[in-house]
Amino acid sequence: MKISLLFFFLPTIAFAQQSLGDSYERGKLLYDDFCVRCHLSNGLGESGLVPPLVNADFLEDIKATVHSIKYGIYGPIIVNGVEYNGAMSPMGLDDDEVADVTNFILNSWGNTSDVMIDEQYVKKVSKVKL
Ligand code: HEC
Repeated sequence: MKISLLFFFLPTIAFAQQSLGDSYERGKLLYDDFCVRCHLSNGLGESGLVPPLVNADFLEDIKATVHSIKYGIYGPIIVNGVEYNGAMSPMGLDDDEVADVTNFILNSWGNTSDVMIDEQYVKKVSKVKL
């Protein structure tokens, strides 16, 4: 009984890991195309102008993170105790692309996340201001 359960679950786990890896790779390409010019390749942003993505407390709120990438973010926000008062326009990414780039930033530069974001999750994040 135990063995057959193991055989049932192992491929599921392997599949989940593989799909996070694939999403991460697609997200990396999107990051290089759409995000790198402001947040930079090291994810540190620019002091006082563009907030960091590395070890950023903002990213602990995954819904807010997805919302900012999907719809843009404007006005005062505080990231790691520093206030930014800029604007990031929405980049017109599709929901699956928002998921991929979110998986990339949540798992880069030492960031780690237990949650994998998929297209369904992004679809459910509505435009209503948080
Ligand atoms: C034109 C420059 C620019 C581009 C391009 C850009 N951002 Fe931003 N981003 C900003 C600025 C400025 C803010 C802060 C806005 C504010 O002050 O409200 C921000 C905020 C954020 C935040 C929330 C705060 C934080 O740092 O945790 C996230 C997450 C984010 N950006 C991710 C991305 C991702 C992913 C991309 C690419 C798909 C991207 N940004 C592209 C300028 C940019």
